[in-house]
Formats: sequence, C-alpha cells, structure tokens
Amino acid sequence: MTVLSELERILSDAKEEWRGQEAAPMETLETITADGPAETGSRGGGAKNGGDVRPAPVGGAVAGAAGGSGARPLNQIALADNLGFMKACADDGMGGAFNLIYIDPPFFSKRNYDAEVKLAAPAHGTAPTWRQTNYSDAWPGDLGQYLRMLAPRLYGFKELLADTGCLWVHLDWHVVHYAKVLMDEIFGAGNFVNEIIWNYKSGGASKRRFARKHDTLLFYSKTAEYHFNPQKEKSYNRELKPYRFKGVKEYKDALGWYTLVNMKDVWELDMVGRTSKERTGYATQKPESLLLRILESCSEEGDLCGDFFGGSGTMAAAAERLGRRWLSCDQGRLAALSTQKRMAGLGANFRLTADRRLGGDLPGRFEAELNISAAPAGKTRISVRLAKYALPEGAPPLPPEAPQSRALDEILSGASLGLVEYWSVDVDYDGESHKPTAWKAKKDGRIGDEIELAAERVGAVRVRAVDIFGNSSFRVYT
Ligand SMILES: C[S@@+](CC[C@H](N)C(=O)[O-])C[C@H]1O[C@@H](n2cnc3c(N)ncnc32)[C@H](O)[C@@H]1O
Repeated sequence: MTVLSELERILSDAKEEWRGQEAAPMETLETITADGPAETGSRGGGAKNGGDVRPAPVGGAVAGAAGGSGARPLNQIALADNLGFMKACADDGMGGAFNLIYIDPPFFSKRNYDAEVKLAAPAHGTAPTWRQTNYSDAWPGDLGQYLRMLAPRLYGFKELLADTGCLWVHLDWHVVHYAKVLMDEIFGAGNFVNEIIWNYKSGGASKRRFARKHDTLLFYSKTAEYHFNPQKEKSYNRELKPYRFKGVKEYKDALGWYTLVNMKDVWELDMVGRTSKERTGYATQKPESLLLRILESCSEEGDLCGDFFGGSGTMAAAAERLGRRWLSCDQGRLAALSTQKRMAGLGANFRLTADRRLGGDLPGRFEAELNISAAPAGKTRISVRLAKYALPEGAPPLPPEAPQSRALDEILSGASLGLVEYWSVDVDYDGESHKPTAWKAKKDGRIGDEIELAAERVGAVRVRAVDIFGNSSFRVYT
C-alpha cells in the first residue's frame, strides 16, 4: 500500500486518536518567579517571594494575561509527550486559548540528533567528551508511521487555537508536502496563509545536486478572522540611488538607498552559529530571529504562544523577549533542562511540570552544606554549598554513549560537580512545591557551587539538582 492511498485512513484514525486520547497526569517540579536580576541567578533574596505566582491549572500555562496589571505571567515548561499534554491542556479549559502555535517537529530525516558533552577535567586524567542523543528522528517504520504521529497532533493544535490564532509548522523537503496535504484536510485548504522559505548558509553541500539550504514553514490560520501584523523589509533601489518618486518614502543605509515594502515569503536568516551567544548546545536549535519574526507577525504582547516540540526553548525565549505568555513542551529531559536553564537565565517566570508517570524528582544522593546566621533588618543569612554530586537513587541507566564505569567513577570521586547542569534552593519549603529563592546554572563549562542570600524566613531547605543526563533529584534539610 502506498502512503498516498493510506492518507484517508491516517486522517480518520488520527481524529479518533485525538478524541480518545487520555490526558497526561501532570505535576509541578519547580516554580521560578524571577523578580531579581537574572544574571545573579537569584530572585531578590526571597523578599518579594512569589507575589506574582497565581494558581494555574494542572495542564495550564498561565493564569491571567501579561501587561496591564503589572503582574508578570507564570509560563510553563512541560516535560511530556505532547499528545497527552495537549489533552491535559484541553481538559483544563485551554481549548481556544492559544493565539499562536509554532512547532518544529522531527523532519523524518531518519537519524539521531546528538550533542557533544564535555566535562571539566578531573584532578588526574583527561576531561571526558562524548556525544549524547538529544532526540531521535530515526523512525524504524515507514513514512506512514511518521504521519500517524503528526496527524492526531494537528487535530490537537486546532482545538487549542483561538479562532483568531495561527499554526506554524516548520519542516523541510523530507515531508513538508505530506504535511501540507494533512493540514489542508484538517484546517481547510482555504486557511492556508503562507509557505515561508527560510534560507540559510550553513551546513554541507553535495557535488551531485544543488546545495539544500532551506527549510519550509507552513502557516495556516484556524479561521478567516486570523490575526496578522504585516511586516516590512528593505527593498534596495536599482543602482542603490534615490528614485525621488512622489509620495514614496526612501531611506539610506551603508549599502545605499532603499524603500520599505511588505515582507515577502522568502526569509534569509542565519542559523545559530558555533560561536553564537544564543547557542545552547541542543541539536537542531533554531535562531531566535526566526521566531521573533513569526511571533511579531501573528501575536501581540500578552498573547499565549505554544511550542509543543520545544527542544531548547527557542520559541519560549523569543516570546519572553517580546512580552508574550508562553508554553514549551518536549518529551526529552535534556530539552526540558536546556529550556529551563535558558528561561531562568532570561529572568522568566515559569513552572516546570512533568508527566507524573515519568517518576518526578528522585531522592538525591548529593551533599550540600548549610550555614545559617542572623543578618541585618531581622533577616536570616543562609549559604548553601553543593559539596559533592552523586547520581540519584533509582536513576535510569546511563545512555550508552556516556562515559562508563572507570571514567564516571573518577568524575564522581573527584570533580563530581562537573555533572551538575543546574541546581536551586528553596529556603522555606512548604512540603509541596519547590519554589527556589536562587539557582545556579552551568555556563561555559562551569557551575557555581555556593548560593548565599538573606531571607525574610528560613524554614525547611530544599535543594534540587539536575545533572547532565537530565536526572533531577532533591534533598530536604530541616
Ligand atoms: C527539531 S527539535 C526542536 C528544536 C527547537 N525548535 C529548538 O529551537 O531548540 C524537535 C523536538 O521535538 C521533540 N519531540 C519529538 N516528539 C515529541 C513528542 N511526541 N512530544 C514532545 N516532544 C517531542 C524532540 O525531543 C525534540 O526536542
């Protein structure tokens, strides 16, 4: 049977699958409200503790809109398969709540996407380096298997979108033509808005064909009443000289004279380069410039934007910069970790939630040393030093690519903190939710081992640590 003859069946099965899908049971692992300066990794010593965190539904992203009231929204990073998570959102009353959904799913490239992991050198020996799989796009089955993954999710996006909302699906030559057929059927061919060609320079080339240097983004609306802000771009005059036409505004830059015209559907934007400040190390990370353009064209400040194949959180980062509310979901622990570090670094407010069936935070085996003393103005000074890291109890087996036995034992007995990517401290833990007062994330291969702050109140102290394999664990000190 050809995929073409299967399409009708794929569509009807997908509709049923979405309808019968069970909601993923979600739990909150960490809530960050970043009132303090982001670079310090602290939200102001706890003095402004949690003032802007409003209750959010289990699958929900945010309560209330950004802007206006001055309260900053509580966004969401979700660690879950997106189908069950979308159903949880729909069950929480978020059907029709999203102004914009962008997805950058696997492209059916039939390969795994790895990232290089480098550790600080232990006292003796050399620093281990290895490649760790960020996510798989291997698909042992045929194209039908891939389309059976995508189609029910398209039904889900349609339900979650507002009537004025838009869906952007980012793919390339592998399957974009099949995705367009599915989207024509699910969203209606009349709701096709644009096919954007994103042209870039990086990557290899072959002598047997023209260099493949573009991705394709399909832009569909849910209804004819969709929201769109036209964007402008420069159009250089012939010979770069002024035309001086009546009523036409002309500008000049270092290259020459130009006018501003409505932006076209071929975009030239650079990929995230090796030395780019944006680079997270997560494979297939997209540039923020691309997402900024999409968000600016289809959303307004305070709007809710979702990315259900979030990866390193590029959509979330762009949304945060533009004052949009955001939700970023990915099924991979390394993606959630990468997004968490990135959004904490931007000073965003967010909850990290996870599918309960994934097991949540594990009992920690790391060692932290606490020092508590009186501070001025009735406050308490607390310093927490992460002294030693150990893999948590019940951690899943390490990925096969990770440094095995001797190398890892050596790291664990020497430079064990090199395994920690992120850690945070809640100095007044309420026994239920981890709301850190301060956090540290690895940057340029290093992680701070001490958090010191003055708090209004110090109660039970909960320390949460996430390692390079994505294992998260906690310890509570009373
Ligand atoms: C191409 S990457 C996204 C990259 C992202 N746009 C960025 O800039 O970092 C695709 C992501 O989809 C995630 N993914 C694949 N299947 C998924 C599913 N069923 N539910 C949630 N995430 C999924 C993978 O883990 C991977 O991180």
